Amino acid sequence: MIKAVRGTRDLLPPETALWNFVEAKAREVFRAYNFQEIRTPVFEETQLFARSVGEETDIVSKEMYTWEDRGRAQSDKGQSLTLRPENTAGVVRAYIEHKLWERGLQKLYYIGPQFRRERPQKGRYRQFYQIGAEVIGPPSAGSESPARDAEVLEMLATFLDRLGITGWTLELNSVGCPNDRALFNEALRKALEPVVAKMCVDCQRRAVTNPLRVFDCKIPEDQPIIDKLPRISQFLNQPCRQHFDEVQAILKATGIPFTLNDRLVRGLDYYTRTAFEFTHGGLGAQNAILGGGRYDGLSESLGGPQAPGIGFAIGEDRLVMSLPQSANAVAPQPDVYIAPLGAGMNREAARLARELRGEDIVTELGDESFRLKKSLETASKMGARFALIVGENEVKAGSFALKNLASGEQTSAPRAELARMIRNSVIASRVQIAPENK
Ligand code: HAM
Repeated sequence: MIKAVRGTRDLLPPETALWNFVEAKAREVFRAYNFQEIRTPVFEETQLFARSVGEETDIVSKEMYTWEDRGRAQSDKGQSLTLRPENTAGVVRAYIEHKLWERGLQKLYYIGPQFRRERPQKGRYRQFYQIGAEVIGPPSAGSESPARDAEVLEMLATFLDRLGITGWTLELNSVGCPNDRALFNEALRKALEPVVAKMCVDCQRRAVTNPLRVFDCKIPEDQPIIDKLPRISQFLNQPCRQHFDEVQAILKATGIPFTLNDRLVRGLDYYTRTAFEFTHGGLGAQNAILGGGRYDGLSESLGGPQAPGIGFAIGEDRLVMSLPQSANAVAPQPDVYIAPLGAGMNREAARLARELRGEDIVTELGDESFRLKKSLETASKMGARFALIVGENEVKAGSFALKNLASGEQTSAPRAELARMIRNSVIASRVQIAPENK
């Protein structure tokens, strides 16, 4: 049997209804903040990720799905391509390619699959989904302002609240400017020298290639050593400190709770200044529902103009896992199941179904070969609200038996009244699949 590849999975109904719900809510909330959708390709030139996410990061050094293209045309022969491990690089590439700065500040969001060859575990997949957004533009459009950082964070808090997700924590840090980080890196290297031999092999490698990454270490024995290392907060220059203070002041003004975490360094190299993660207790080891931050130099490092930006990506797989129990309770069910009774009735049933579906009644269609008992059992099993019986007599009379499958109550309804009767009873009681915390 051929199975889905390790680390990938099928999303099946009824769970897909939750995914649709989450995505619809994201579109609705992001719209209120005046974001618009962007869709970039699922694969890009490998160079794009190497130059943005960073050669030394785990993502680029060991987790990318990369291959050499084998096209015949000279232009794409031997080109190294990669399935996107994240979407910020693609958005900034598109920003540069289409000169989006000419249109002022860009507020863009995306929803789609990303690919990383990580070790699969709960909440970690090799094909996973992100809902993300980026605010990027020329400095003259205010893209550098701490107001943008706070706005993005406030939008995230609103989104999680609207989904009924409680118990999240916003962890906030500033990773400073490249200059601050160079000084910090130097200090880290020095501090690590005498202790690194006692640390795990990953940390020993990081101490040489990218000391900042030591803060990602999860090995318990290394933690007392890491706790004593210098922190980026001690190296922020005045403008970075001021920027970070202002982000916090706006968050306080809008009532968004946050925790400062000066160990938060994020696993991608393009970050500057504000860096953040929202974590959720119910998720276990992979507890980051989302992560993001500022990337003021990214456009320039990809050959574009100065274009400060800030954004985030939510792990949709983890977000769906964090939804409240109530969200799982309701699977979408048909409003009515049409039971054709006897030869020739499939045609009549098809006509009726077409009429009802035209009125947005969710209609399931049986088969004339079924006996009534089988039809009613099938209808109940799929959770249909009503069964509509279509036999020769009913068609002649132009009036149909409508059976409420929960109460067993049966009424007779003229054809013209059917849609209205079903709608009145069903639409009014259609249940929201997650609570609204407006
Ligand atoms: P990231 O922290 O690498 O950031 O990923 C963001 C989120 O994607 C994580 O917090 C997690 O929820 C989810 N995620 C990552 N890897 C996996 C996986 N293997 N399986 C399931 N979920 C996963 C970025 O990707 C940046 N592009 C975010 C950003 C946008 N920064 C600025 N703008």
